Amino acid sequence: MKNSDLPKRILIDTDPGVDDSMAILFAFCSPEVKVEGLTAVFGNSGSENTTRNALRLVELAGHPEVPVARGAEAPLLREFKGFGWRVHGHNGLGEVDFPLPKGQPDPRRAAQFIVDTIMANPGEITLVALGPLTNVALAVSLEPKIAKNVKEVVLMGGAANAMGNASGVAEANIRNDPEAAKIVFNAPWQVTMVGLDVTRKTVMTPAYVAELGKAGNRFTDFITKILPHYMGFYKEASGLDGLYVHDSSALAYVIDPTLFKTKLVHVEVETVSPVNFGLTAVDWRLSAEAEPNVHVCVDVDNDRFLALYKQRLTEAVS
Ligand code: BDR
Ligand code: CA
Repeated sequence: MKNSDLPKRILIDTDPGVDDSMAILFAFCSPEVKVEGLTAVFGNSGSENTTRNALRLVELAGHPEVPVARGAEAPLLREFKGFGWRVHGHNGLGEVDFPLPKGQPDPRRAAQFIVDTIMANPGEITLVALGPLTNVALAVSLEPKIAKNVKEVVLMGGAANAMGNASGVAEANIRNDPEAAKIVFNAPWQVTMVGLDVTRKTVMTPAYVAELGKAGNRFTDFITKILPHYMGFYKEASGLDGLYVHDSSALAYVIDPTLFKTKLVHVEVETVSPVNFGLTAVDWRLSAEAEPNVHVCVDVDNDRFLALYKQRLTEAVS
């Protein structure tokens, strides 16, 4: 990356969410990116909670001036049947009580905020999506010109060559609004999919989390408070001792794309099957019938990524 490219100006669409919170704090601790705003979506919790949590995070980060806009309450076409609350707690923050934030959300809804921010800064904004893609799909439907004016879209979601986590085949963010994902994957912009293929390759062990906690700054204190419920879910659901690093992987891609290997392929989102909806079906061939539409992350240098995350969070000022 050339110095002139720094920092990348990013808008984060998110459903905080324990791992969303970890990703957002990673972004605030990284000089390669400048957070221009957060837009909140339903997912790990309802949009009232995710908006409140987003406000808490900008305040914790010492950036209360960063706008937070509330977005979609539900998927575009379906009843929401996600179970994020089991993973992230009812409040999205591992059932830990935090004081109410002082700030208020931006008066605009998320989709309008995304449109306004991208159109006011042509070619400048990287959209990082960490939740169901409802807000992003609404934004590009509201103003299709954002597709040509956004720098790129990087999303945590999907499973190209990996089993699902919300069903046997589907990843949660895609499963929670497959029609929105279809719109986003097929809009004429550059999409990079940071899915379970790579996010499951990076595990933060209890020892790693304990090391983070030793820094004792306000970021690592917050993270170590919200993690026990989340880690408890993984332990119970899959026997994993630790946590997969989902949303921070998308941020890592934006901060340092050399951590990942990608393949440009054709991805279709399954929306019809009553069982397999949310599957991201990849055609690995490059052929006329399957025009490439998505850069899929297929591998990650997880040691270097874990070292980067730890360095950024532990060196944050208290
Ligand atoms: C994704 O689903 C959510 O529970 C997480 O925050 C992450 O964005 C992982 O499948
Ligand atoms: Ca998320």
